[in-house]
Amino acid sequence: MSFDLVLFGGTGDLAWRKLMPALFQAFRHGTLREGGRIIGVGRDNLNHEQYRSLIQSRFDHVELEKRPTAEEFERFAALLEFLPMDLSKPGDYVHLAETLQARKAQTIVMYVATAPALFTTVCEQLAAHGLNTPNTRVVLEKPLGHDLASNCAINHTVRRFFEERQIFRIDHYLGKPAVQNLFALRFGNALFEPLWRREHIANIQISIAEELGVESRGSFYEHTGALRDMVQNHALQLLCAIGMEPPINAHADAIRDEKLKVLRSLKPWTPESLVQDVIRGQYGSGTSLGSKVPAYREELGVNPTSNTETFVALRTEIANWRWAGVPFYIRTGKRLAGREATIVINFRPTPHAIFNSHVDVSNKLVIYLQPRDGLELHLLAQGPNTRGARTTNQTLAPVQLDLDFETRFGSERVGAYERLLLDVMDDRLNLFVRSDEQEEAWRWVEPIINHWANDTQGPRHYAAGTWGPSASSAMIARDGFCWSEEA
Ligand code: BG6
Repeated sequence: MSFDLVLFGGTGDLAWRKLMPALFQAFRHGTLREGGRIIGVGRDNLNHEQYRSLIQSRFDHVELEKRPTAEEFERFAALLEFLPMDLSKPGDYVHLAETLQARKAQTIVMYVATAPALFTTVCEQLAAHGLNTPNTRVVLEKPLGHDLASNCAINHTVRRFFEERQIFRIDHYLGKPAVQNLFALRFGNALFEPLWRREHIANIQISIAEELGVESRGSFYEHTGALRDMVQNHALQLLCAIGMEPPINAHADAIRDEKLKVLRSLKPWTPESLVQDVIRGQYGSGTSLGSKVPAYREELGVNPTSNTETFVALRTEIANWRWAGVPFYIRTGKRLAGREATIVINFRPTPHAIFNSHVDVSNKLVIYLQPRDGLELHLLAQGPNTRGARTTNQTLAPVQLDLDFETRFGSERVGAYERLLLDVMDDRLNLFVRSDEQEEAWRWVEPIINHWANDTQGPRHYAAGTWGPSASSAMIARDGFCWSEEA
């Protein structure tokens, strides 16, 4: 089946870092059908050959085993074309229409990896030029808007020209193998389901920590911040995957209906909880990855008096029968002490202690999303110093059942963008976000945005290379818990 993939933002950061490497992997694995076209679109005045050379040079930044050989690149490059376009000029869409109509591919994908301000213009112009045919899919990259109103406006315009079944809203966290594993863990096994509730779980911690700072994206990040960049989408999607009820089947809408219910059940914010349960921070200078690094305010494109948050920690609850009263903590930030995304399910302690043990007698399940992808079940076992021990005075020791998916499945695993791009081609919406989910997530974060806009205190300082402001530890300590690395 032939395809045309039009990549708006074809010379942008996302195209280099994620999309082209993912498309190449799919091509290498034989899952991207040959005979298709990948048409990069951008303002630069490049011809096909110049675009191909540019992309080839960018592969130098990709991990060695994911780089194409010269022969592989030559075959991959045969798919690549470039179309110079100014997306705000209606006349430029005429060339696009001619290019696509000359081919009449069976599947047409419009991947809009541009600033969100252009989403509506692009969709309007595609429709005005007859490019919203039934076999066209439109892929929208986050952030979809900067608040509820702008998100609704984008969704409204896009839906005027495309049906919901044609709209693929990307949250690349849903494409990560570990997140799919989470669905498998919960709904493919009977083991955890009886325990997956308030009676057995004390608290849940979702952490997405990055070591990197804002890199070259300072001016983008200034208008985004960690709440819009990571919490509204990635972290809430993880929370949904943990908190949702088992869907009636594995179809996209069955899954999305359940995620939506979680978002609708999130405890509403109050003036008190906005102060006590949401911590924002901004990194100062410090040491990261062994080198001295500048403060956020010294980064390129950043206002030297900026109040943009590079760290958020918050506490919420899902107000329903399964979860009432169980704190869900979310934490994400740049320039933290490590690159680590984990979900920690802390189970309640045993109801009665018969061992004279000094170790914490609570079990926990750690789901590692990255850099490793695995599961660790923390248990207590009889420790090694048992000779002569009395039964009432046994030495318990923490042990872990450890499952590393990379070791288990190795090279067969497909990366997040590769998975999602193939799903778009195959019309599978399971791992994409529906408009009502997205709107609900904005509805929930908006009180935080409004509160911060009127809060003169600004973000709290933390040194680069640490785990964020101390207020984040104080917040969780109020409930009698601590972040997993502090345990
Ligand atoms: C993106 C954010 O959505 O996710 C970035 O815009 C962030 O700021 C990135 O660095 C993190 O993705 P990953 O897959 O590297 O954890």
